[in-house]
Amino acid sequence: MVRLILIGPPGVGKGTQSELLESRHGIKPISTGVIFRAEIDAQTDLGRLAKRYIDHGRLVPNGVTIEMIAKRLRLPEIRKSGFALDGFPRNIDQAEALDEILIENDLAIDRAISLEADTEVVVQRLTGRMGCTKCGAIYHRTNKPPQRDDLCDNCNSVLLVRSDDQPEAIRERLRIFEENTAPIIGYYERKSILKRIDATRDAEEVFAEILEGLTL
Ligand code: AP5
Ligand code: MG
Repeated sequence: MVRLILIGPPGVGKGTQSELLESRHGIKPISTGVIFRAEIDAQTDLGRLAKRYIDHGRLVPNGVTIEMIAKRLRLPEIRKSGFALDGFPRNIDQAEALDEILIENDLAIDRAISLEADTEVVVQRLTGRMGCTKCGAIYHRTNKPPQRDDLCDNCNSVLLVRSDDQPEAIRERLRIFEENTAPIIGYYERKSILKRIDATRDAEEVFAEILEGLTL
């Protein structure tokens, strides 16, 4: 059983790698972005709050975000399957809170993966991305086109561009990554669980490197 953290700028491929970890090895993704977007679609209070931040590319406040993750890490099925945290933690306060949640639940992270790519690459990936409105599968107009225009290969539902994949929100997300999230790379390096991966390569090559040395 494997417990991972996926760190990386917007568009680097965290969600794509999470999909592979789940479909090939049953490792459950815990993606804060995916959970927030589901709350927005369901028009919950949390969704309404999160939308005010997400649409502008800003971080949702730590309090609600940390509680949301703590709840999931307590679930017996997550403890059993292992997990890949995608998009959490995203600042030092969240990383410290995660350490406490892990201790409380007698869990430990095997590896923190830093997926690395230049801004030019991630902007190209973000500007062509489309996602399935039903199952969440991730596509790209040129890098990973669906078989039929704007329809999901898995469930035939409509593909849409995310509301925060607009130039202004993308700029803000990249800025926030550098300012708030990049420092957590050093945090996990100091704990000797960090692995840096060149994420500019093909998704399968990146995936193979994520798995290298892990006991599945
Ligand atoms: P979140 O949903 O996590 O967005 P993000 O971090 O900006 O990352 P993305 O989902 O945009 O990119 P990705 O790395 O998953 O790339 P993907 O695999 O899709 O968060 C959204 C918002 O929620 C945040 O801005 C914030 O407001 C809020 N939030 C989330 N977590 C929070 C937290 N902890 N605290 C507070 N607020 C939080 O790939 C991108 C594209 O590239 C796709 O089209 C894909 O097909 C393509 N692609 C992927 N890999 C490759 C490859 N190797 N080669 C070619 N193309 C590829
Ligand atoms: Mg994602």
